[in-house]
Amino acid sequence: MTLQENISLKKFNTFGIDVKAEYFAEVSEINELLELLNSSEIKNQPFLFLGGGSNILFTADFKGVVIKLAIPGIVIIDEDRSTILVEAGAGVVWHDLVQFCVNKNFGGIENLSLIPGTAGAAPIQNIGAYGQEIKDVFESLSGYYLQDGAAGNFYKDNCRFGYRDSIFKRELKGKFIITKIRLRLSKDPVLNLSYGQVKQEVEKLNLKELTVKDVSRIICSIRKSKLPDPSIDGNAGSFFKNPEISFEKFSGLQKEFPDIPGYTQEKSVKLAAGWLIEKCGWKGKRVGNSGSHSKQALVLVNYGGASGKEVLQLAGEIKSSVYKKFGIMLEEEVNII
Ligand code: FAD
Ligand code: EPU
Repeated sequence: MTLQENISLKKFNTFGIDVKAEYFAEVSEINELLELLNSSEIKNQPFLFLGGGSNILFTADFKGVVIKLAIPGIVIIDEDRSTILVEAGAGVVWHDLVQFCVNKNFGGIENLSLIPGTAGAAPIQNIGAYGQEIKDVFESLSGYYLQDGAAGNFYKDNCRFGYRDSIFKRELKGKFIITKIRLRLSKDPVLNLSYGQVKQEVEKLNLKELTVKDVSRIICSIRKSKLPDPSIDGNAGSFFKNPEISFEKFSGLQKEFPDIPGYTQEKSVKLAAGWLIEKCGWKGKRVGNSGSHSKQALVLVNYGGASGKEVLQLAGEIKSSVYKKFGIMLEEEVNII
């Protein structure tokens, strides 16, 4: 591990924003991480922990130390008749973990196939897609508090998981470094095919018996058909969360916009932010070097050379127009630095 100075972060964030880190280090061992946190050279500097940089928008150079977590390793650490406990290092590429499990027919994360980023960051916003969330299979995680280097373990009940949310995106944001996560998967997978588009694809394929591997393949093909590839058009997936509103507010909106999609939750209705943005005329619109993607209005794109501030400016304009038309304030999903 070497501490580098004045390093471009362009290749370390999927938006492809060209900012610099004052100091940068990639750590692949816990000892290296602890050594770095205690190093007198950088002791009182601000720190930023980075996985795959796929949920981040840099708006300025980072004055401090960026640490890319590259801790490797996927290990089966426990099993019983029906479940298996898999541990992954924070730096494991999330989709590699999915493939490891899918290839062994362990069920529970196949619908989360092809989500970019690392295993360590996955619990931070409780990644979710196509009817599954990591919280459904989450057992525990380990890491260190930045302030004093003390070790900490979190079990599912302490993580305060919510929709694209957890304690690590709130009170512990930037204060706790995740080094290992553990997921309890099923040896007798029950497939979740509830999401509209997944159901349609399954019907089209007309397979007699479906495995987790088939589901993973279907999810990958759906994702490839509509989400921009960050290696071509920089992006961080959905820029905003889907807003959750009261039943009353939803029926008010339905009167004015009869075709507004709404998904009933226990105590609220979840709206499709992509629909709201599209109805405001943003879908496929480009402003300077950034824009709203032509196949998925919720994904903001860097078409090349955009600055983080430029993307943020566009996001602000989108928020204002959605608020003006629907009275709904969108909330960013992406971490703005
Ligand atoms: P980063 O972007 O590197 O970091 C995210 C945040 O976590 C930052 O605040 C960072 O400081 C912090 N952090 C990272 N690692 C650690 C660590 N080990 N310890 C402490 N803090 C840390 N998300 C979904 O939920 N569902 C989707 O379907 C989805 N689709 C996407 C599609 C595309 C094309 C893209 C580009 C993104 C998508 N995302 C999706 C968002 C993103 O992939 C996830 O949020 C992912 O978990 C981020 O992982 P990362 O390693 O890239 O995190
Ligand atoms: N829609 C539009 N126009 C658009 C995009 C979407 O009208 O341009 C409407 C359609 O009605 C569509 C509905 O929105 O049926 C839902 O669209 P989609 O299935 O693409 O999902 P999403 O709600 O836009 C969410 C997640 C994604 C996740 C998918 C699949 C959030 C913020 N986003 O998107 O996660 O992959 O569902 O489960 O919850 C991410 O978090 O970065 C991300 C990509």
